Amino acid sequence: MGILHRLRRQVPGQLSSVPRIAVIPGDGIGPEVIEAAIPPIEKAGLNAGLEFQWELMPYGADHYLRTGETLPEASFEQLKTEYDAIFLGALGDPRVPGNEHARDILLGLRFKLDLYINFRPCMLLHPSLCPLRPDRHTGIDFVIYRENTEGSYLGRGYSKNEGTPEEERVSEEVHTARGVERIIRAAFEFASTREKKLVTMADKSNAIPAHFIWLEKFEEIGAEFPEIQREHRYIDALAMELVRSPSRFDVIVSNNLYGDILSDLGAELVGGLGLAASANLHPGRPGLFEPVHGSAPTLAGNGTANPMASILAGALMLHELGAPDAAQAVEKAVRAALEEKVTTPDMNGDFSTREVARWITDRI
Ligand code: NAD
Ligand code: IPM
Ligand code: MN
Repeated sequence: MGILHRLRRQVPGQLSSVPRIAVIPGDGIGPEVIEAAIPPIEKAGLNAGLEFQWELMPYGADHYLRTGETLPEASFEQLKTEYDAIFLGALGDPRVPGNEHARDILLGLRFKLDLYINFRPCMLLHPSLCPLRPDRHTGIDFVIYRENTEGSYLGRGYSKNEGTPEEERVSEEVHTARGVERIIRAAFEFASTREKKLVTMADKSNAIPAHFIWLEKFEEIGAEFPEIQREHRYIDALAMELVRSPSRFDVIVSNNLYGDILSDLGAELVGGLGLAASANLHPGRPGLFEPVHGSAPTLAGNGTANPMASILAGALMLHELGAPDAAQAVEKAVRAALEEKVTTPDMNGDFSTREVARWITDRI
């Protein structure tokens, strides 16, 4: 089985054969990779009887700088009620150094839609892609369950004595019983669909007392899943072990910040950010699908960004929309492109974003 495994939407009765997808290309390479990803997703969807309706939303740095608007309340309401999924490129622009538009749009959607699971698969699609000794690391296939609605990301805190040597900036980390429980439970439920059946939970409870709630909930919820092996790691040691023996991991669950950092590390173990896809989910509700990478401003506009991450994010979306075969067809075409070395410069190829996407589309 591929990177998609058995993600499933919980209310199959609500699936539409004409899914409405809100598209937010965003900033930097976002528009390029989204434009490239739509044709293969559309083709695979049509083959499976899904006729996508793509509806473009302009939110991002340009729109913000022009209008002062990040994500207006009316659009948020629409996104909440009128769409089957959101497909997003990336947000982040050097002209907005405070990143406030990205926080409003990207984090705003994750929080306000309560998409508490950030599902980030790390699977080696071709043995040559692992930067470690390939003979030792053939079967890398783990998934990060990143908590997506609290932790250090809430922006709670304060500053005082600004402009003096006594200046202090305080950022609060928030870990609630409900929040920690539900992401840990989701990780165990997902692990129960997998062969290896191992959940690793990472925190820093040896230094941060608030992290004890992760240990407590991990034991409590883990006990409900006796068939699943569970292990705890401190985040620093897990980072080390992921480089030493990535193949031993199966499902890794962690808080918002550590999950973010682990995602880039995990991505690099299996070929880089150009390949890493993610799904922001709340089972039973429409999800938000996006590459793990950002807007890569230095690459923007030169047509060489790798479209595979956004294409694979589209595959996750197909899967969630009830078309697992279409999702597999997309993943298979991406694997074929890797095998045939039809890749962008980040993967040592000399194809453009569009050429790679066209090749993959033709292969579906
Ligand atoms: P980044 O992911 O944009 O780039 C990191 C490195 O990976 C760069 O060297 C970049 O060139 C390369 N890279 C990323 N995606 C690539 C692709 N598709 N093809 C080829 N190479 C690719 O991270 P960053 O440089 O830390 O951040 C740039 C901006 O993006 C910042 O504003 C940041 O806040 C934002 N960001 C947004 C998201 C998101 O919208 N989900 C995620 C991460 C970063
Ligand atoms: C990601 C990104 C975001 C995050 C940034 C842009 C706020 O790094 O989606 O991984 O930290 O969640
Ligand atoms: Mn990140």
